Amino acid sequence: MILSMKDVVKKYDQLVAVDNVSLEVTEGEIFGLLGPNGAGKTTIINMIIGLTKINSGEVKIFNKEIKKNEKEVKMNIGIVPQEIAIFEDLTAEENVAYFGKLYGLKRNIIKQEVEDALNFVGLWDKRKVFPKKFSGGMKRRLNIACGIVHKPKLVILDEPTVGIDAQSRNLILESIRELNKRGATIIYTSHYMEEVEEICSDIVIMDHGRIMARGSKEELKGLIKEEDRVVISVEEVKNSITQKIEKLSSVTSCIEENSEITIVSEKNSDNLGRIIDLVSNEGIKILSVEVEKPTLEKVFLTLTGRSLRD
Ligand SMILES: Nc1ncnc2c1ncn2[C@@H]1O[C@H](COP(=O)(O)OP(=O)(O)OP(=O)(O)O)[C@@H](O)[C@H]1O
Ligand SMILES: [Mg+2]
Repeated sequence: MILSMKDVVKKYDQLVAVDNVSLEVTEGEIFGLLGPNGAGKTTIINMIIGLTKINSGEVKIFNKEIKKNEKEVKMNIGIVPQEIAIFEDLTAEENVAYFGKLYGLKRNIIKQEVEDALNFVGLWDKRKVFPKKFSGGMKRRLNIACGIVHKPKLVILDEPTVGIDAQSRNLILESIRELNKRGATIIYTSHYMEEVEEICSDIVIMDHGRIMARGSKEELKGLIKEEDRVVISVEEVKNSITQKIEKLSSVTSCIEENSEITIVSEKNSDNLGRIIDLVSNEGIKILSVEVEKPTLEKVFLTLTGRSLRD
């Protein structure tokens, strides 16, 4: 087990920032912590790295308590904090080297590791540049290079894509996938459900310090998916096709409007093939088929009655 938290509570005076949270992260996964502002994501991360004391419960990293193995644990974790933590008056290369030394990298390998890290985030050709000349996305990427220079077993990224352009965002998501492929376990926090959906294998949805749901994205969507919905655009509706579709077993309703046929079926009915066959056998030309998929946003909305977005 890479991380296990058991009944963890963190209070700031009256405010319960983390309310009895238990979770586990196993080796090799990209674990997503999804929740809106103030959910408790950063507090959880700070507890994992021993920056914030817990009020009660237990946190173990690599099956060990942090306090007793602080040095070993910290050497094997890479943290990319929510607030960008780089030095404006050091070059990109000097920044990464600084963090490399902090993580205890030996002198003889540091140069190579800095090169690897900068290459990894696509900033090697900018190594001599001071970050004050960087765009927001480049600063974020440098922040990542600083957190992974020592090739840690566990990489924790706290909302690494906030406020950056789409290109940097894609580059970051791609590099997280690559880190994971090379063997690192990833903990990723975000309030963008699209990102979590895109890269995470296992997800916890939090709100107000509590875990609302957990599972793979399919499992989470299964929580709300009560029906399948398919919209078929056709050239021309004829031969009472809607009534014929409606007679198929597992179809609960079928309506037509402006040559768009909307078919609602029972959950997991897997009847798309039969519907399409039926329509084309009637000589109706299909222009497009759209299968409506539930999103994590919808899961959150269903669980909390609120939207994930600010
Ligand atoms: N040092 C602190 N002192 C007092 N309250 C705090 C402190 N740090 C966090 N909190 C409170 O704890 C709760 C959880 O905050 P946290 O930063 O963990 O949320 P988050 O999920 O990371 O949010 P965001 O998406 O905005 O980063 C919030 O209500 C916040 O105001
Ligand atoms: Mg946060």
